[in-house]
Amino acid sequence: AENGKLNVAIDGPAGAGKSTVARRVASELSYIYVDTGAMYRAVTYYMLRHEIEPEDVDSVLKHLRELSIELVPDANGQKVLLNGEDVSGPIRSREVTGIVSLYSQIEDLRAHLVELQRVMALRKGVVMDGRDIGTTVLPDAEVKIFMTASVKERALRRFNELEKTDDLTLEQLESDIAARDKLDQEREISPLRQADDAIVLDTTSMSIDEVVEHIVSRCYEVGREV
Ligand code: DC
Repeated sequence: AENGKLNVAIDGPAGAGKSTVARRVASELSYIYVDTGAMYRAVTYYMLRHEIEPEDVDSVLKHLRELSIELVPDANGQKVLLNGEDVSGPIRSREVTGIVSLYSQIEDLRAHLVELQRVMALRKGVVMDGRDIGTTVLPDAEVKIFMTASVKERALRRFNELEKTDDLTLEQLESDIAARDKLDQEREISPLRQADDAIVLDTTSMSIDEVVEHIVSRCYEVGREV
């Protein structure tokens, strides 16, 4: 790009640490972080609140038109605004997490969010994380990373992040994550899949710092070439 900036796509399964890493990479490069999972979650939260089931595709699409989603940078990364209301907390609830994959399978809903995501990346300098960024949303991203980690390790990371008041067990988290992986990988429309030109990072035994450093240095390398 004329401004010397790149787009960075970070994909991978639930709990691989994408958002922590993407946020840090964005901050080191002074880029904008875009959490696409938060967008699917915000839509899901809205539909649940209006009691619109994922099977009722017509209603979902109708209500989608009433809703605006904004990602606003703040001290701990990013705030998610749904029609102006801060829903950053509630979109992480187990209720939303448990059902977001079902709404995410709706083709026209995806098309709508992908469109918004592409607009956000037009001027480059974006670090975007999700499931289909390198394959579908930004196939021309200059840097593509596919982050993985074992199901056990991902469950453990989520477990360690939980509030003490949550009464979820490690086993429950492990089976939730495995179920969500399955839905995300097996859906027909842009399933979770690594792009042919993505760098695969198995982070099972890497620290966050190591992962961030790896990606940032890749960005500098690519930045010199383009
Ligand atoms: O990254 P996350 O856990 O916040 O994502 C929540 C869900 O949203 C995930 O289970 C699948 C869906 N998702 C998607 O289908 N495509 C994306 N680009 C990002 C998320």
